[in-house]
Amino acid sequence: MELLHAGIDSYLQELLPDRDAIFLEMERYAAGEEFPLVGPQVGHLLEILARSVEAESVIELGSGFGYSALWFARAMLDGDRLIQTDMKEENAGLSKSFFEKAGFGNLYDFRVGDALQVLEQEEGHFDIIFNDLFKEHYPRVIDLAYKRLRPGGLLISDNTLWRGRVLEQQPDGKTRGVLQFNQALKEHRGFLTVQLPLRDGVSLSYKV
Ligand SMILES: C[S@@+](CC[C@H](N)C(=O)[O-])C[C@H]1O[C@@H](n2cnc3c(N)ncnc32)[C@H](O)[C@@H]1O
Repeated sequence: MELLHAGIDSYLQELLPDRDAIFLEMERYAAGEEFPLVGPQVGHLLEILARSVEAESVIELGSGFGYSALWFARAMLDGDRLIQTDMKEENAGLSKSFFEKAGFGNLYDFRVGDALQVLEQEEGHFDIIFNDLFKEHYPRVIDLAYKRLRPGGLLISDNTLWRGRVLEQQPDGKTRGVLQFNQALKEHRGFLTVQLPLRDGVSLSYKV
C-alpha cells in the first residue's frame, strides 16, 4: 500500500533541495541491489534533527552501507561520535569507501555485529539513536535506547507504518514487531512520541 497519494509524493520529491552527487550514487547503487534506504526525504529529516539537537553522539542501529549515516555526518563535527552498526561485514567496507569519497572519513566508525549488543556495550549517552533494524527486532530497542539516551535525546525509528501492513488483520512477525513497538512507545512514560507519515512512517521519540 502506498501511504501517500502518488501526486503528493512526487510533489514532495520536487520540493527537496538538491543533494550532493554522492547521495545520488548511493541511491543508484541501492536501487541496483534492491537495498532499502531511508531515501532523501527522511535523510533531510535526519540531518535537520541532528542539527537541531546539536548532536555530538549518534548511534545507528542498522546502517546498511552508510546512506542514512552520511546524512547525520553532514550535521556533525570532527571529533564527534557517529557509530554505525550492521550485522553484515560487507556493509562496513562499502560504507568506508562512501564516507571517504564524501569527505567524511574522519567520522567513519563502523561496528559489525548485533546492533543492540553494540549499544549495550558502548560507554556514555547518546544525543540520537536511529533505529532501522529488521522489524522483528524493534520491540527490543525501546528499553535499551531509553537507558542509553541523554534526557532530551531522540530515538528516531524508520518504517513505523510498514507500507500500511500495520492495518492488516493477520499481521506477520515483522508487522507484529512494528505494531508492538509503536504501542509500547505510545505507553512509555519516559518518551514523548509522534508518528510522522513521511515515506514509510518515521517515529520521533523525545526522552523526557
Ligand atoms: C533497512 S537497512 C538499513 C538502511 C540504512 N539505515 C539506510 O537507510 O542507509 C537494515 C539493515 O539493518 C541490518 N540489521 C538488521 N537487524 C540487525 C541487527 N540486529 N544488528 C545489526 N544489524 C542489523 C541489516 O543487515 C540491514 O543492512
